[in-house]
Amino acid sequence: MDLSAVGLTVRFGALAALNRVDLEVAAGERRAVIGPNGAGKTTLLNVIAGEHRPTEGSVRLGGRDATPLPPWRRARLGLGRTFQRSTLFSQLTVADNIALAVRARNRSGWRFWPGSEDGLNQEVSRRLEAGGIEHLARRPAGRLGHGERRILEVELALAASPSALLLDEPMAGLSGDERQKTLERLRSLPKEVTVVIVEHDIDAVFALAERITVLDHGVKIADGTPTEVRANARVQEVYLGGL
Ligand SMILES: Nc1ncnc2c1ncn2[C@@H]1O[C@H](COP(=O)(O)OP(=O)(O)O)[C@@H](O)[C@H]1O
Ligand SMILES: [Mg+2]
Repeated sequence: MDLSAVGLTVRFGALAALNRVDLEVAAGERRAVIGPNGAGKTTLLNVIAGEHRPTEGSVRLGGRDATPLPPWRRARLGLGRTFQRSTLFSQLTVADNIALAVRARNRSGWRFWPGSEDGLNQEVSRRLEAGGIEHLARRPAGRLGHGERRILEVELALAASPSALLLDEPMAGLSGDERQKTLERLRSLPKEVTVVIVEHDIDAVFALAERITVLDHGVKIADGTPTEVRANARVQEVYLGGL
């Protein structure tokens, strides 16, 4: 699913968290959004997902005007996301968290499901394995380490079979191994899945992204291929520094 934003402005009182930001992400594209803390990256994902209404501007998902739609309607159009902070059911096991996410997808009715427990269990096993967390299946999510929790969150978002996925700093606080695992997982997604990732791990960004959008103080200061962005003087100045 392609997604786009035109002239997005989000004001919190006197502060413009986003200031006339345009974004165009093609179906199947891997896009990174980078920028210093407070640049407006999370706000941008929130507006695309429908958590915030923009003060001005519009959002399109799959060619359709999504600006007035609540988050659950956008999810039904195939938009998935992870949050910068944790959102799992901490008393439930890892496997049950995934089972719930799969069930939620099937209830939403935009994909056929035969409704069998076996089918559900098989899919949960497959997803545990794909995320490299099968050994954690029976552990309550509240007892996971930080990195394990982030990896589960990515799996939960993927369990919705999104056609576009928004990821907010999925690598934050992960060990080197966990970063590598998450990066491989994201690289292995079906190529028709659109990915918009906010991430500070610049190596991961350059390994994953086909295009990079750079925000600073709510303003888009660059948008291009990794090579173009790396060479951009303004980006070097505000963000990349020594790269
Ligand atoms: N709900 C809110 N109310 C007031 N200010 C907010 C709110 N959310 C974000 N901001 C402010 O908007 C700016 C952009 O925040 P954010 O989108 O979280 O940046 P980033 O994710 O790039 O670090 C920051 O100055 C932040 O303090
Ligand atoms: Mg943020």
